Amino acid sequence: LPSTKDFIGKLYNYQGCWYYPNTLQGVLNFQKGFKPQETDIIIASYPKSGTTWLKALTVALLERLKDISSSDALHPLQSDNPHGIVPFLEFGLYLKSSTPDLTKFSSPRLFSTHMPLHTLQIPFEDSPCKIVYVCRDVKDVLVSQWYFRCAYLQKELDKRLLESLFESLCNGVGYFGPFWEHVLSYWRGSLEYPKHVLFMRYEEMKSDPAVQVKRLAEFLGCPFTEEEEEEESGSVDKILELCSLRSLSSMEINKTGSKYDVHHSNYFRKGEVGDSKNHLTHEMENKINMIIEEKYKGSGFKY
Ligand code: A3P
Repeated sequence: LPSTKDFIGKLYNYQGCWYYPNTLQGVLNFQKGFKPQETDIIIASYPKSGTTWLKALTVALLERLKDISSSDALHPLQSDNPHGIVPFLEFGLYLKSSTPDLTKFSSPRLFSTHMPLHTLQIPFEDSPCKIVYVCRDVKDVLVSQWYFRCAYLQKELDKRLLESLFESLCNGVGYFGPFWEHVLSYWRGSLEYPKHVLFMRYEEMKSDPAVQVKRLAEFLGCPFTEEEEEEESGSVDKILELCSLRSLSSMEINKTGSKYDVHHSNYFRKGEVGDSKNHLTHEMENKINMIIEEKYKGSGFKY
């Protein structure tokens, strides 16, 4: 990556996807050692697409099924960051070993990944775990990545980094990219195995959160009951409020501490649709739109 390497670093391609060396080791460990269970739930995404939000919603949906009347323990989202509760497989659990200790996970085990679907090598026909994928407009993903990287590197916002990320994205060589291959792998998976792969869109979660959270609950096998729907201070609304960016980012646990060398607070920024307009030039937006249109052509997938 001649013109971008100073900013982006050295990436390696494996099975059509780009990784940093340590992540690649985690991918290999994962592929060697991971045995999915039927009740597993895997949250999947391209980085900066709304992973943290989807993790929080999934945790909150499952948590509501537990009988907590006899317990005065904190809600898990108040005692740990969403990435602590739902760890990444390839650069978390499997980073150093192909046989991590998973005994602390009770069923349903919650994991997450940024790997494209085909590299997970899940035999859906005989071991059907569930995968929820969140997709987001790539232009907002790009801007979100830029902010995140600058915060991670503890640098001022540097336009040159945005330009490098843009170039890298357009060349199809970003971390976990190409972006379009990533999206299409899960899109096709959701068509082929609709009971096992749910495809969600960040923009729809923003514009119609109640519908989307109910869709998620149905898919996970824990739909809202009529009683819940009729509750005065509705169960759906409570979950949406608990998992809102404002609520999560104001929790003490998310103001302190770090996970994967990233301060918890860096997972929360603006959470808006269309922020790319404030940072990308028209030329950049047009180029991305053209590439994406071309790459999605014939797939039936529209954004
Ligand atoms: P922005 O940088 O555009 O604000 P990920 O979790 O995949 O790393 O994605 C991070 C993006 O999701 C950031 O986008 C962040 O602000 C946004 N986000 C985090 N929590 C959110 C929430 N509860 N609701 C909506 N967006 C959220």
